[in-house]
Formats: sequence, C-alpha cells, structure tokens
Amino acid sequence: MTYTHLQVEDCGAGAAVRLVTINRPKALNALNREVVRELTAVVDGLLALPGETRGLVLTGAGPKAFVAGADIAAMATMSVDEARAFASEGHALGEKLAALPLPVVAAVNGFALGGGCEIALACDFIYASENAKFGQPEVNLAVIPGFGGTQRLLRRVGLARALELCMTGAIIRADEALRIGLVNRVLPAGEVVAAAVTTVETIAQKGPLAVAAAKRVLHAGADMVLARANQAEIEAFASLFATQDQREGMAAFLEKRAAGFTGT
Ligand code: CAA
Repeated sequence: MTYTHLQVEDCGAGAAVRLVTINRPKALNALNREVVRELTAVVDGLLALPGETRGLVLTGAGPKAFVAGADIAAMATMSVDEARAFASEGHALGEKLAALPLPVVAAVNGFALGGGCEIALACDFIYASENAKFGQPEVNLAVIPGFGGTQRLLRRVGLARALELCMTGAIIRADEALRIGLVNRVLPAGEVVAAAVTTVETIAQKGPLAVAAAKRVLHAGADMVLARANQAEIEAFASLFATQDQREGMAAFLEKRAAGFTGT
C-alpha cells in the first residue's frame, strides 16, 4: 500500500520493527482526516496480519515536530457532525493502537501538541527528545482535546495534572513531561527513534504471547475496579500455562540455556 502522508518502513534486526513517520513537515505533521485514515490503515494491517512484525514505532518527520496537533485549517469550518466524525476516527485509531498485541512506542521529536500529544498517549510508551514539548493547547482555540487526551492524560498523569494541562493549555518541556510520568525516557535529539527501535527489539526477545497478555491486562485493567482487574490478571497468567512458550521459557531457565520462543 502507498501512503500520501506517511513513510512506512521495516527496520531493526530482521526488519521486525515497523517504523511509521508522519510526513507533513510544512504543517508540522498536523493530523487531517487523511493522515488519521492512513495511520488507521497501517494499524489495521498489523491487526489483521501481525506476521513477523514485532512492534511499531511512530514518529514525525523533521526535527521540529512529532505532530503539532489536529489540522486547524481542516477543522476551522467543520460542522458539529463533522467534528464528531473526526474525533471518532481519532478515538478509533487510539483504541486500535491499544489493541495491537505488539509494543507501540511514540518517538517524539519536537512538538507533540493537541492531537499529537493524544496519539503519543495512545502508544504504550513515549520516548522524547530533549527538545520535545508536550501540551493540550486546544482551549486556545476554544475547543478541548478530541482524540482521547482528556481521558488518557487523566489515567497517565492523574486528575490534577490532567486538569491543569487541559485547562491552561500550557506547553511543557520534555524534562517536566518525564517528571510527571507523561513520557518514559528523554534522549538526545537524534537518538529517539533508534532507542525506540532497540526497545522493541528487546521486547521481541521475550515470549510474544506473554508480552501481548501483559499489554492487554494493563490496558484493560486501567478501566476496571481492582478486584476485576486482578481476576483478569489471574486468568491471563493461567492461560499462558497452556502455551508451548511457557514450557520452553521455564525449561530454558532450569537448563541454563537461551529460550527459543515460537509464539505458540
Ligand atoms: N494545524 C495546521 N497547521 C499547523 C498546525 C496545526 N495544528 N501547527 C502548525 N501548523 C502550520 C502553521 O500554520 C505553519 O504553516 P505556514 O508555514 O503555512 O504558515 C507551519 O505549520 C509552521 O508553524 P508555525 O509558523 O506556527 O511555527 P512556529 O515555530 O512559529 O510555532 C507551534 C510552532 C507552537 C507548534 C505552532 O505552530 C502552534 O501553536 N501550532 C498549533 C498547535 C495547536 O494548537 N495544536 C492543537 C490543535 S487542536 C487539536 O489537536 C484538536 C484535537 O485534540 C483533535
């Protein structure tokens, strides 16, 4: 498949990491409906046929921005119904990223604002360059985050900080984003994508069914009461004992050799 606004390549050892670069540098990689649809098509492809791909890294073209938000020029004349449809497509993309049974890492270089911050938040974790900046400045435009920002920020950094970011529209630097738990790592500019790819490769050495189960239980548990979330963990833990990889992983440990996982 060819894309207008994305660069899609396979990289890493054995080309196992899908690297997707949002490529509209003249608009600081702003998200219009076409970009959202193209990103959704990439994720749909992975959901349908994960194959040899072991993880997804999402980044933005150029040194200045990951994504500077949803496309303001495209939104300026939207009707209520068009805005609802646009937000619904952004939400569907975020939900699909969370449903991917693979690690998804946002490699943020420069601005991750509005919809850009929200797409990064929909990834499993965020690596940021030292010059990265995060924020939900939608109130400056008299709107609010529409791609999941209010709820994912709430869950990631807590109510008080989410309220402050969404109500003031403040833009924070990478070190502050690290301090409040919005991002996982801050790296020198130019090293962010490589670090994200390395992390996916590290995860690729683990039992893939276990990695998928950990992601599923953590994402689902964030929206459950504790007793139900704990039960979900018990069930997922137990179900892995029906896999070949569980026997192989434990046998390899006891025999002091490297495990060879097959994803079965
Ligand atoms: N949409 C459309 N175009 C954008 C854009 C956006 N979100 N952000 C930047 N651009 C465009 C600018 O219009 C400009 O285009 P021209 O060269 O044709 O004029 C180009 O990108 C470069 O931007 P600036 O000249 O503004 O660059 P700067 O360095 O002076 O400022 C910035 C950088 C602080 C990121 C500034 O561009 C900015 O504030 N952008 C908007 C950020 C924003 O409000 N994001 C939230 C959008 S709403 C949203 O995302 C809703 C949602 O949740 C779904």
